[in-house]
Amino acid sequence: MKYDVTVIGSGPGGYVAAVRCAQLGLKTAIIEKYNVLGGTCLNVGCIPSKALLDSSEHYHNAAHTFKTHGIELDNLKVNLEQMIKRKADVIKSNNDGISYLMKKNKIDTYFGLGSFVDKNKIKITGTDGQVQEIETDKTIIATGSKPTILPFIPVDKQRIITSTEALTLTEVPKHMVIIGGGVIGLELGSVYARLGSKITVVEFLDSIIPTMDRALGKELQRVLKKTLGFEFFFQHKVTGATNTGSGVTVTAENPKGETVTFEGDYCLVSIGRKPYTEGLGLENAGVQMGERGMIAVNDHLETNVPGIFAIGDVVRGAMLAHKAEEEGVLVAEYITGQKPHINYNLIPGVVYTWPEVAGVGYTEEQLKEQGRAYKTGSFPFKASGRAKASMDTDGFVKVLADKETDEILGVHMIGPRIADLIAEAVVAMEFRASAEDIARMSHAHPTYTEAMKEACLAATDNRAIHI
Ligand code: FAD
Ligand code: NAI
Repeated sequence: MKYDVTVIGSGPGGYVAAVRCAQLGLKTAIIEKYNVLGGTCLNVGCIPSKALLDSSEHYHNAAHTFKTHGIELDNLKVNLEQMIKRKADVIKSNNDGISYLMKKNKIDTYFGLGSFVDKNKIKITGTDGQVQEIETDKTIIATGSKPTILPFIPVDKQRIITSTEALTLTEVPKHMVIIGGGVIGLELGSVYARLGSKITVVEFLDSIIPTMDRALGKELQRVLKKTLGFEFFFQHKVTGATNTGSGVTVTAENPKGETVTFEGDYCLVSIGRKPYTEGLGLENAGVQMGERGMIAVNDHLETNVPGIFAIGDVVRGAMLAHKAEEEGVLVAEYITGQKPHINYNLIPGVVYTWPEVAGVGYTEEQLKEQGRAYKTGSFPFKASGRAKASMDTDGFVKVLADKETDEILGVHMIGPRIADLIAEAVVAMEFRASAEDIARMSHAHPTYTEAMKEACLAATDNRAIHI
C-alpha cells in the first residue's frame, strides 16, 4: 500500500493528526504498537487517572462531607475491583470511539511496531511476528513517552511501581511512598489518600509542582496536608528503594546530608517521563535526535529529513495531551500548504487534584526573571458565594497583568472546577485582553467563574467587590 501520510503512534498527537490529515484529503495510515488505539493518554494516563480521581472523590465526599450536607450513609466501603473495572470500561468506550473515528475518516489502521526501512518505507511487525511493509510520502512520528526510571531504583512493578501499575492496583495501599511531587504523584497520591492510604511524598526540590507559579504549589501543599493527611519531605535526594517482600523501604538523603528511611507497602516512582523512540529505526531514515532523547524538530515540527515530522511527547515542550493534539493539527495543515501556528505560551497546565490547579501564560517567577513590570490581582474562593454553597472554599485565582498596558500575562488558579475555568483565561489571553476587559464582562452568579472576574477587578486598581 502507498499513503500520502503515515502516522506512527495513536496517542492524542497521532490519532488527531491522522483525522486532520484525512479531513484535508490525504490518504492516511496509522500504526499502533499495542492492539488498542489511544496511546498513553487514553490507556494508562489522562483518562484512567481521571476516572479513578472521580471515583475516589465520590468516596471521599461520601465519607467526609455528605454528613454536613445532611446526607447520612451506613456501611460505606470501597470496592476497588469495581472502581478499577469502571475505569477499564471508560477506557474501552474511548478506544471504540477512536476506532470509529479512524473508520469514519477512512484511515487505515495497522497494529504492530512501526519501523523505518528508509525515508519512504515503513515496516510493521505484528505481535504474531508477521511483517508488512507500506510506502509513504510523509510520516508523522507520534510515539510518545515512557516513565523516567532512576538506575538505582529497581521498578519491579509489584511493590515499586510507576503510574501504569498504580492505575490497576488490587488493594488500597496502607502507606504509599511517592518519589516526586509532580503531577502524577499528586494526582495518584490523591486517589489512594481518598481511599484511605497514608501518602508520603519525597521531593528533590523545595516545592511540589515546582514548574507552576509558586503560589499554587504552596496552597496545594497546605490543602493536601489538611484534607488528605499528605506528608511532604522536600529537598530529599532519594538514594534507593528495596522490595522487602511484604513492602518497600525507600532511603533518601535529607538536606543535612543524613540518611532517612521510609517504610511503606508501595513505592510510586513519578519523577517525570522521557521520549520514546525505541524500535523506530530512525537511523534508517537518517532522522537526527535532539537533546535528552527527544527527536529534533524545527518550528514546523519537521525533522532534519524533509517530509518526516514529529509531535507530542517525543519532541520538545510540555508533555501534555492537548499540546500533542495541537501539534498533530499543525503538521497536517502545514503539509497541505496552510500556515498554522501554536502559541506555546498559552497551553494551559492542569493538575486534577481537589482543589484543582491550573495555570496559563507567565508565572510570577518568570515575570520577575524577565524584569517585566507587572501587577497582580487575587481573589480567594473563601469569599465566593458559589464556593461557600459547595463547601469548596480553599484556593484562589491570581491574575498577572502588564503594569502599563493592563494586558493579562498569566493566570494561575487553584480551586473548584478550575480545570474548566482556565479556558476563560486562555481565550482572554489569546485575544490579548486586558484585566479590565474581563473585569467588565458579566459572569453568571453564582458561579466559580466570578472569581476570575474579581481577580481581574483586583488587578485593575484594586477594585474587587467581594473582598
Ligand atoms: P502517547 O499518548 O504516549 O502515544 C504514543 C503511542 O505510540 C503509544 O500508543 C505507543 O504504543 C505508540 N508507539 C510507540 N512507538 C511505536 C512504534 N514504533 N510503532 C507503533 N506505535 C508506537 N496529559 C494531559 O494533558 N492531561 C492529563 O490529565 C494527563 N494525565 C496523565 C496521567 C498519567 C498517569 C500519565 C502517564 C500521563 C498523563 N498526561 C496527561 C500526559 C499525556 O498522556 C501525554 O502528554 C500524551 O499521551 C502524549 O501524547 P502522544 O500522542 O505524544 O503520545
Ligand atoms: P513531573 O515532571 O510533573 O514531576 C516530577 C517531580 O519529580 C518534580 O517535582 C521533580 O522535581 C521530582 N523529581 C525528579 N527527580 C527526582 C528524584 N530523583 N527524587 C525526588 N524527586 C524527583 O513528572 P510526573 O509527575 O512523573 O509526570 C510526568 C508528566 O506527565 C508530567 O510532566 C506531565 O507532562 C504529564 N502529566 C500530566 C498530567 C496533567 O496534565 N494533569 C497528569 C499526569 C502527568
